[in-house]
Amino acid sequence: MKITVIGCGYVGLVSGTCLAALGHKIIGVDVDTKRVAGLAQGKVPIYEPGLSELILAEAAAGRLSFTTDIASAIKESQSVFIAVGTPPSPKGGADLSMLFAAVEDVLKHANGPKTLVIKSTVPPGTGEKVAQQVAKSPHRIEVVNNPEFLREGTAIQDFMQPDRIVFGANSNAGMEVLREIYQPLIDRGYAIFSMSRQSAELTKFASNAMLAVRISFINELSQLALAIGADIESVRVGIGTDKRIGPSFLKAGVGYGGSCFPKDVAALVHQMQEFGLEPHLLSGVEKANTRQKKAFATRVIQSLSGVTDPQVAVWGLAFKADTDDMREAPSMEVIHALLAAGIKVRVYDPQAMENARRMIGDKVTWTNSVDDCTRGADAIAVITDWSVFITQDWPHIASLMRGKYVFDGRNCLGSTKVLAAGLIYRAIGRPELMPGSGKPGSMGVVSAG
Ligand SMILES: NC(=O)c1ccc[n+]([C@@H]2O[C@H](COP(=O)([O-])OP(=O)(O)OC[C@H]3O[C@@H](n4cnc5c(N)ncnc54)[C@H](O)[C@@H]3O)[C@@H](O)[C@H]2O)c1
Repeated sequence: MKITVIGCGYVGLVSGTCLAALGHKIIGVDVDTKRVAGLAQGKVPIYEPGLSELILAEAAAGRLSFTTDIASAIKESQSVFIAVGTPPSPKGGADLSMLFAAVEDVLKHANGPKTLVIKSTVPPGTGEKVAQQVAKSPHRIEVVNNPEFLREGTAIQDFMQPDRIVFGANSNAGMEVLREIYQPLIDRGYAIFSMSRQSAELTKFASNAMLAVRISFINELSQLALAIGADIESVRVGIGTDKRIGPSFLKAGVGYGGSCFPKDVAALVHQMQEFGLEPHLLSGVEKANTRQKKAFATRVIQSLSGVTDPQVAVWGLAFKADTDDMREAPSMEVIHALLAAGIKVRVYDPQAMENARRMIGDKVTWTNSVDDCTRGADAIAVITDWSVFITQDWPHIASLMRGKYVFDGRNCLGSTKVLAAGLIYRAIGRPELMPGSGKPGSMGVVSAG
């Protein structure tokens, strides 16, 4: 099928390219002319493992192209995916202006029947508003919802081997088009769940909110664990092995971030309030997340209270490993708190430096390697669990530092190795460990999350 994908960001690029790999003919459209010009020359604007290679292959096979000419793209296509951003609005909900602008384009340029597939994450009820908007068209435009569950860092695999695919449509015709688009994945046996548009919209929000609940739950307990001397890593394994609970998203850390969890939880809270419903649990999830970021920064600041001209090496800026995405990254809140406390900050991230630089400019010292970042530091603060941080040579790292503190904001380092190098290891919800204090009381099991 010939399909236009409006929005060439993390979701539009990955889903468009993967749909091309499934055999469809995809035209990617974006308002960002620089982005489109780069893509047309094979330059991929985001870091996502495997994406560049797949884009080049699909473009070479003639199944994938990019343009800013939205009118021609829509006219040529049977279906139009909308994958534009739906960022938080200052009023509290989701800002749907980019979505409605894209819908307006479809309305303006449709030259026959089309299926409009909403891929962006939208508050429940949005599809209905879009359907009312396109009802003005002289052509039949079916509006369906097909939420995306990919994770940055493993996006291609998540799209091509999904846990499930959700079809949200309020008509058989809409459902049929979605089936036709996803037939290759249906044939491979991936689970399809067909439901109403509203249910599909809420399924996406509920999915992100559930994951945020789990993260804030374990983070909240990590505060108590630290206070009473328990090890949250042992607790995590102790509960995660219960089949009713499972191990995913139970890793304590410096708080969740990214372009999805914070904004989707906030939008859900806002929508519940609009309906006069009190979002007790979800409001708590947000508060716990804010506290987690602050608590981490406070621990670092307090440890350095007696140090003259303190310097912290921040390892990792991206909101998680294997992406360059800086949206709502916890690193920003931590860095701002350190700077406000008069601490000099040196930073390094394998992929997110360019995006981060646009956010904090010259307030920090930018470095080009882990070594350079660490040189002269009184403390290391690990904010992103990039594997390059986990595999460091700790005696060498210790030799570069002025001080001895290592704050593990992701509970990802081997504490024994850090301690053996003569450093002081402080993690999230784990007993504070000094060199020579022996092994932590952890079961040492690493699981998903
Ligand atoms: N990033 C993720 O991991 C992820 C996962 C699942 C769902 N989502 C959802 O998918 C949607 C897109 O997210 P993203 O991370 O890809 O956003 P993004 O900001 O990376 O990309 C959006 C793109 O849309 C373009 N755009 C905006 N308005 C346009 C218009 N009118 N016409 C053409 N192009 C336009 C922008 O220039 C940008 O390139 C959001 O609703 C998000 O919540 C994101």
